[in-house]
Amino acid sequence: MTCHLLIPAAGSGKRMGADRNKLLLPLIEKPILLWTLEAAIASEAIAWIGVIGQPHDYPEFQKIFHRLNTTKPIHLIQGGTTRQASVFNGLKSLPSNGDRVLIHDGARCLATPQLFDRCDKALQTMQGFIAAVPVKDTIKIVDGQTIVDTPNRDHLWAAQTPQGFQADLLKNAHLKAVELGWEVTDDAALFEKVGLPVQIVMGEETNLKITTPQDLAIAEFILKQRN
Ligand code: CTP
Ligand code: MG
Repeated sequence: MTCHLLIPAAGSGKRMGADRNKLLLPLIEKPILLWTLEAAIASEAIAWIGVIGQPHDYPEFQKIFHRLNTTKPIHLIQGGTTRQASVFNGLKSLPSNGDRVLIHDGARCLATPQLFDRCDKALQTMQGFIAAVPVKDTIKIVDGQTIVDTPNRDHLWAAQTPQGFQADLLKNAHLKAVELGWEVTDDAALFEKVGLPVQIVMGEETNLKITTPQDLAIAEFILKQRN
């Protein structure tokens, strides 16, 4: 077991339209966050897990941790007002031997243990990487309602998590972001902005992020197919 995993889970799930953090919603009788944690725990590669949450969710998170059958250490870390701030808090909470970190959204509850294993292996040789899949759609760059460009699809990949980094390099990138007011939607973007290389590791088509009620229905279908 080699790497440390941070799970951002401190959002509110606005686009889901539920009355609480979407990660607490049931998906085939288990909260979404429990599915994510079970996959992470089943990965041999992960030695330590930090779950980043809002304090008002801690009691529910604790109940989820109690349902896990594991000896792996799981820590609660206080989240921030944005995903970026939440991850930064997570990085500051890594133990001193946490030199390689994987970051995986709590909302990506269909990621398999094999994907975590593949990511851990990648992190043994790469400074930074993201799991990603080639896009299937033709993507348009639009200004207002008018297309301004159609990028060559051969160069387009859809970003997922896990994303993995040498922890000190990512922490420095986050520090610089705070200093210069950069706001981004994933950690790779900060690595890119400070000029560090980010590579691609093959993700999974089914590794979707639960964002809307439709995603929950699709996730349920995929999980039932698996069993
Ligand atoms: N997240 C976080 N801290 C925040 C915001 C988001 O840790 N302040 C986490 C979410 O819990 C989620 C992941 O980042 O696991 C990806 O974010 P997203 O899918 O956008 O979740 P929410 O922000 O909760 O949803 P929404 O944007 O619809 O409100
Ligand atoms: Mg969000």
